[in-house]
Amino acid sequence: MTREVTPRAAESGAGATDVFRQSGKLQGEADIPPERVNLLAGELIKAANDIAEKHAVTYEEFNILKAWMIQVGEDGEWPLFLDVFLEHTIEDVNTRHREGTKGSIEGPYYVPNAPTLPSPATLPMRENEKGTPLIFTGSVKNTDGDALTDATVEIWLADDDGYYSQFAPNIPEWNLRGSVPVDSEGNFEIECIKPAPYQIPTDGATGKLIAAADWHAWRPAHLHIKVSAPGYELVTQQLYFPGDPHNDDDIANAVKPELLLDPQPNDQGGETVVYNYVLDAE
Ligand code: DHB
Ligand code: FE
Repeated sequence: MTREVTPRAAESGAGATDVFRQSGKLQGEADIPPERVNLLAGELIKAANDIAEKHAVTYEEFNILKAWMIQVGEDGEWPLFLDVFLEHTIEDVNTRHREGTKGSIEGPYYVPNAPTLPSPATLPMRENEKGTPLIFTGSVKNTDGDALTDATVEIWLADDDGYYSQFAPNIPEWNLRGSVPVDSEGNFEIECIKPAPYQIPTDGATGKLIAAADWHAWRPAHLHIKVSAPGYELVTQQLYFPGDPHNDDDIANAVKPELLLDPQPNDQGGETVVYNYVLDAE
């Protein structure tokens, strides 16, 4: 995949629009029944009207809203905006039946078909990749406690500057991305770095809103993971590190207590963290 990138953080948001278009997620858009569209669009429009009424929204504010929505589209930031401000609820209502491991939002920066690296794996990294070395290890089982030996752990993370490969300039294509089949016992071990806290791009329309509202743009440092196994529900997840000031104050509202890691110093000068997965049968 080739994508033109220029040295602006806002490109990260625009790149997410290209990836969404190519992702195949937009299937069956015409298949949502009219009653459901009526319900959802009707309630959304009513909520907006109720807010306008309650707060006596002015024409100046209404026109700024129009201009801003146009700009979000022109900046290619709808995936970014919706993943930050809405996906956490979509994720929650779609996974709350599960007994197994908790999920979290996918966010806009997942790219399928990362290089396959059998466990124990080292993710693609630049020479002298900045950041604390991290060994992420664990097991994949079902809710009966059986090891799932055909499971795959996909992982992607921001570098020590908070940038994702393929969405920011001058980073090798698959840097800090990989797809790791578990070993014959259902265990995995992945060497990478500890990701840095991530600031959602501030130079596009989403950033303008954040600044105009006097919010902050930070997400706590996180690993992104997808764990899959045939016959089991895919777990899409993020994992967080203790002590990050934004764990309690994530702009994307995607932290859950079950997703906090407990890394320990290891004798290679880095940290090791264990996280064991339990997948629900489909
Ligand atoms: C966004 C970025 C992330 O890395 C993430 O996990 C969720 C959302 C964003 O910029 O929208
Ligand atoms: Fe992220």
